[in-house]
Amino acid sequence: MADHNPNIVWNSDGFSHEERSAATGLNGATIWFTGLSGSGKSTVAAACERLLIASGKPAYLLDGDNLRYGLNKDLGFSAEDRHENVRRVSEVARLFSDAGFISLVPLISPYNKDREMAREVHELAGIPFFEVFLNATVDVCEKRDPKGLYAKARAGELKGFTGIDDPYEKPDSPDLVISPEDGAPFAVATKVITLLEN
Ligand code: ADX
Repeated sequence: MADHNPNIVWNSDGFSHEERSAATGLNGATIWFTGLSGSGKSTVAAACERLLIASGKPAYLLDGDNLRYGLNKDLGFSAEDRHENVRRVSEVARLFSDAGFISLVPLISPYNKDREMAREVHELAGIPFFEVFLNATVDVCEKRDPKGLYAKARAGELKGFTGIDDPYEKPDSPDLVISPEDGAPFAVATKVITLLEN
């Protein structure tokens, strides 16, 4: 909290993270899915949400595309805006997870330093954070092209598209790597949620 306004004083009347967990019996955590557009992040994250809720665990999907309809509707795709996108979503995920939810966050989040920030925000709050890398190549994602955006980017109608004319930095040490051959979304999701057992 080094860069806070000195005229704003932190209020600590509410529950601490530990007190809240003890009182509610809930242990929130954040699972962050990174990878190219079309790599399967949202599908797997949504499958995780279904599996978790079916087993009685509160979970909430914070989908990058959907958040850009509201909270992040003012952001574009410059490096600065993607940074701000990750910063805001990290903070929201931290709050949901502090409340006891399993936050499932599929976001391209193409830059290592931004994903490190997301991890740090959680670590500082004592909340478990897991990074899952959907390791599908541009080739694979472009063949799937579920939203037709790769075609638009190739045609020059969409500039700064991740993987085509904008960078994607692969994570150095993700907690889990998922490859296209790892199976159907629910099989992958079953594997992903085992991270929460550690
Ligand atoms: S991030 O880079 O800031 O993390 P985010 O996950 O929120 O991206 O949004 C990515 C989604 O926005 C993609 O799945 C795609 O549907 C859409 N999109 C639109 N323009 C772009 C672009 N220039 N680069 C990447 N995705 C884009």
